[in-house]
Amino acid sequence: MVKICCIGAGYVGGPTMAVIAFKCPAIEVAVVDISVARIAAWNKVEKHVSEADIIFVSVNTPTKTRGLGAGKAADLTYWESAARMIADVAKNDKIVVEKSTVPVKTAEAIEKILTHNSNGIKYQILSNPEFLAEGTAIRDLFNPDRVLIGGRETPGGQKAIQALKEVYAHWVPEDRIICTNLWSAELSKLAANAFLAQRISSVNAMSALCEATGADVTQVSHAVGKDTRVGSKFLNASVGFGGSCFQKDILSLVYICECNGLKEVANYWKQVIQVNDYQKNRFVNRVVSSMFNTVSGKKIAILGFAFKKDTGDTRETPAIDVCKGLLGDNANLSIYDPQVTEDQIRKDLSMRKFDWDNPIHLQPMSPTVMKQLSVVWDAYAATKGAHGLCLLTEWDEFKTLDFKKIYDNMQKPAFVFDGRNIIDEQKLREIGFIVYSIGKPLDGWLKDMPAVA
Ligand code: NAD
Ligand code: UDX
Repeated sequence: MVKICCIGAGYVGGPTMAVIAFKCPAIEVAVVDISVARIAAWNKVEKHVSEADIIFVSVNTPTKTRGLGAGKAADLTYWESAARMIADVAKNDKIVVEKSTVPVKTAEAIEKILTHNSNGIKYQILSNPEFLAEGTAIRDLFNPDRVLIGGRETPGGQKAIQALKEVYAHWVPEDRIICTNLWSAELSKLAANAFLAQRISSVNAMSALCEATGADVTQVSHAVGKDTRVGSKFLNASVGFGGSCFQKDILSLVYICECNGLKEVANYWKQVIQVNDYQKNRFVNRVVSSMFNTVSGKKIAILGFAFKKDTGDTRETPAIDVCKGLLGDNANLSIYDPQVTEDQIRKDLSMRKFDWDNPIHLQPMSPTVMKQLSVVWDAYAATKGAHGLCLLTEWDEFKTLDFKKIYDNMQKPAFVFDGRNIIDEQKLREIGFIVYSIGKPLDGWLKDMPAVA
């Protein structure tokens, strides 16, 4: 019987192994993690690693915050310690699967660590990046667009690819399992995230031009996406993309390009992040400039804090930058998100960029910011007495709010800034709101108060 062990029980390791165990009853699957808080009872890490034939490594690979490549390069500390642990406890030949997103050529480094400490044990390294998205993880795992497996082009490498392919073949049609060399698989993951993020930055860049010209970005992206060569998905203009992957993986790609002397290629991809930062700043500037160039002492309701709907995850959420921008202008924020806790929001607003994966750097929140911030239990409480409302996550429940009731309880003029284009702006205008939607024609008020980007 084949035994599989996965190191790292996070957003990827947990659901991926649950699906493998569910779909392959004959395979014994164990998931281990070093986080006591995450899995208090799972302290048999080494036993499972030592017994498994196939080891998935699904540990976090955050952006480095210090040292060489800080702010760009992927931090492989967790990966290296997992590899060293495997080498320490292994008793039989193993297939080690890179499930984490890693820089291209990482397999070579991992191979060195393992083979230098091997005691005669043979290792095959495979790259099998994960493409699931949060909020739809199980659906994506059950029905993936593709499964990608990269391995060495040697008989041993091909045999290992075959062994992993047999695991997925329990539920994934064979024509959706793509086999490549190691470096193509590693790079494809970074490339896929870069392409997806690039689409969002492209449509967000267009949204700025739409506002300047009177075009409507939803009409433009619909028209563009109808071209089958472009396709309609991932063309929704927004306040900016967030999540733990896009920015981290593009920065890693940029760093790899720079290390290979490819300055122009690095600059091309860097621009995807720069446009994303521009979009978040542009949103803050629009809020401030519309409200007579100051939000000092004004109550602003923030609806939605997660980086997208159907998750409580706040890693790199655009809400952090928007809230920090508004707090910087002395606004009083009243925040509501259906899934994010007050503790998490306060933590996020006290952290420096990239520190979410390095909690030791957490700064205590300044007493002034503490006072400027309240976290409440629903959208009505958040908007009561507010001057403006910023919608930052596209939660379904926000589409059906009673906006007349909200309007009646807000200060006048009452502003709505829809960072996700989910509310019918015409209906809001009829109620009496001054409305800003990303990339939509500006109403008279906003035209008279141009935002400085
Ligand atoms: P995560 O932080 O949720 O989980 C990683 C887990 O690994 C943590 O619980 C951590 O304690 C554990 N860990 C670290 N070192 C360990 C060790 N030596 N031994 C045992 N456990 C250890 O991260 P995640 O979101 O699951 O992402 C994991 C990887 O998958 C990253 O490379 C990420 O880029 C990639 N990825 C993430 C997603 C996503 O949607 N979150 C999607 C595709 C790929
Ligand atoms: C992403 C990739 O989709 C997934 O394949 C990869 O494995 C991990 O990274 P995830 O970060 O979970 O998944 O969420 P995703 O749905 O891609 O959204 C990322 C961000 O882009 C969110 O903030 C979302 O709101 C934003 N987005 C997405 C837009 O602004 N516009 C869009 O059209 C689509």
